[in-house]
Amino acid sequence: PVTCCIHPSILSADFVNLEAELARISTADAVHVDVMDNHFVPNLTLGLPIVERIQAVSPIPLDAHLMIADADRWAPLYADLGLASVTFHAEAATAPIKLARELRARGSRAGMALRPATAVEPYLDMLGELDLLLIMTVEPGFGGQSFLDVTLPKIRRARAAVDGSDAKVAIQVDGGISAATIERAAEAGADVFVAGSAVYGAQDPADAIRRLRGLAVS
Ligand code: DX5
Ligand code: ZN
Repeated sequence: PVTCCIHPSILSADFVNLEAELARISTADAVHVDVMDNHFVPNLTLGLPIVERIQAVSPIPLDAHLMIADADRWAPLYADLGLASVTFHAEAATAPIKLARELRARGSRAGMALRPATAVEPYLDMLGELDLLLIMTVEPGFGGQSFLDVTLPKIRRARAAVDGSDAKVAIQVDGGISAATIERAAEAGADVFVAGSAVYGAQDPADAIRRLRGLAVS
C-alpha cells in the first residue's frame, strides 16, 4: 500500500479528559471514535452530543466507527456533524448502498465495516460507493483484545478486489493492532490502522504512533 495512516482509538483514552487525550496523539492522521449502543455490541460508549463536542475541539479529523443498530437512521446524523468519515456496520444496515450515498451527500467519507465472520464477497460490487472498508480484526465491542489471524485472508481478498477495481477505497483494520501485529495486517493489504491500547497504553502515545507507522510502511 502507498499510504499508511494510524488512527488511535479514544476508546482507550480517559473519557473525562478527552481534550487533553487528543493533544497526546498529535502525530495521528485521524482520531477513531467508537460509538456503541449496547444493542449491536454488548457495550456502551458515547453518542451524538459527545461526538459533536469532540469534533468541535479536535485538531485532528474524526473517523467515527458506529457499532450501533439501525445504522440507516443514525449514521447520517453523524455525517451532519461534519466528521471526516463515518463508518457503519454492514450487518446493521438495511440499505448499505443508499446509506453510503447519503453519507457522501452530507460531506463525509463513507465507510462500511465487517465483523470477523462477515464475508467481503457480497459487498464487492459496491466498492465504488465506499471510501473506506473496515475489516474488523477482533469481535467489535471492547478494546484490548487479541488480533484474529483468521481475518488475514479476508484482508488479502479485499486488497485484491480494490486493486482490481477503479474504486479508491482505503482498507482499515481495527482490533488488536500493535507493534507485534501491524506488519501482518499491512502485508495482507491494509493501509489504515486503528490502535487503541497500543497507543494509549504507551508512555508516549505520539511516539507509539510514529513507531507503528514505521512498521506498517517498512
Ligand atoms: C473495538 C473497537 C476498537 C478498539 C480497538 O470494538 O472498534 O476501535 O478501540 O482497541 P485495541 O486497539 O485495543 O484492540
Ligand atoms: Zn473501532
